[in-house]
Amino acid sequence: MTTTAEPNWHILGAGAIGSLWASHGHLHGHPFTLILRDAQRLADYQSARGITANLGGSAQHLPLKATCPSQLGEPITHLLICAKAQQTQAAVAAIAAHLSDDAVVVLLQNGLGTAAPLMQHKPSLRLLQASTTEGVFRNGPFSIVHAGRGQTLLGQSTALTLPPMGEEFIAGIARQLSVGPLQVTPVADIDTVLWQKLLVNCAINPLTVKYRCRNGELLDNPLALQELGDIVNEIAKVNHALGYRDNETELLGRVRQVASKTALNRSSMLQDIEAGRETEIEFITGYLCRLGTELGLSLPRNQSLLTLVREA
Ligand SMILES: NC(=O)c1ccc[n+]([C@@H]2O[C@H](COP(=O)([O-])OP(=O)(O)OC[C@H]3O[C@@H](n4cnc5c(N)ncnc54)[C@H](OP(=O)(O)O)[C@@H]3O)[C@@H](O)[C@H]2O)c1
Repeated sequence: MTTTAEPNWHILGAGAIGSLWASHGHLHGHPFTLILRDAQRLADYQSARGITANLGGSAQHLPLKATCPSQLGEPITHLLICAKAQQTQAAVAAIAAHLSDDAVVVLLQNGLGTAAPLMQHKPSLRLLQASTTEGVFRNGPFSIVHAGRGQTLLGQSTALTLPPMGEEFIAGIARQLSVGPLQVTPVADIDTVLWQKLLVNCAINPLTVKYRCRNGELLDNPLALQELGDIVNEIAKVNHALGYRDNETELLGRVRQVASKTALNRSSMLQDIEAGRETEIEFITGYLCRLGTELGLSLPRNQSLLTLVREA
């Protein structure tokens, strides 16, 4: 699929998702360059001699191209950001001087609220957003397991009021990021995709922290299930105020479906809490609560989960 005319993509955030894309890129003739957080991390990576990737079947060792901010040479023209929401601003600040003014930047992450601040680094960036349901986790330093297949959608948010990039351009970017089994599909309305993912994450992730349970266990515990309903009731109010048509019953049905489909998963929020790491809560429930305030809606259940996760 690769031709010599294809751009050189960098990946910022060489964790589970970033390494997954880089691994498939490497295997399918599309060598992305990972940007590790600093020279020490790069030295550790070089000692490990690459990424160990279990992409289904057995693990393989892949010597992926990697660099770090202090060793960046040529300008970055195409950047896939796979850092977590709370890490994004610092990660981009560290490489902003190397971004070409009109770089194509694809923000592939959960949560909302990180896109607009990115534009402050370079107002002429061509920023696209993506959402994925691929499931991948890190089982050690520079080691990943691709545990579940999903889909990845890409589009231009209308919330940023950037000049429209056009369907053909976005389809071209989707093709460049489609490597091996990871297929990226362009969509006309990425805002709705990201919003719907946010709503599901708002309902499931903080509750898994509260009950310290796997996603599916929320459906088996009557207390948690009641609370899930109360949270979705508040979410439905925000959804309605924004003009979306799906009602509370439909939203709850979707949330239950995801919890059931991912029943054995420990949410990344729960994993972050258990590992003592900062979570994405400010860009998930925090985003919802800030929006509720702007819309004059009271969201006490979500607010209390926000406090619970902040203090966990
Ligand atoms: N994993 C999944 O299955 C999945 C599925 C759907 C969506 N998502 C979303 O995708 C996003 C990424 O998730 P993930 O699971 O890949 O997270 P992750 O494994 O924690 O990866 C994040 C990576 O960002 C790196 N990073 C943090 N700060 C940095 C900085 N200043 N400079 C350079 N790199 C920096 C981290 O580096 P260190 O290794 O040095 O800490 C880490 O490698 C999240 O929004 C998540 O919610 C994940």
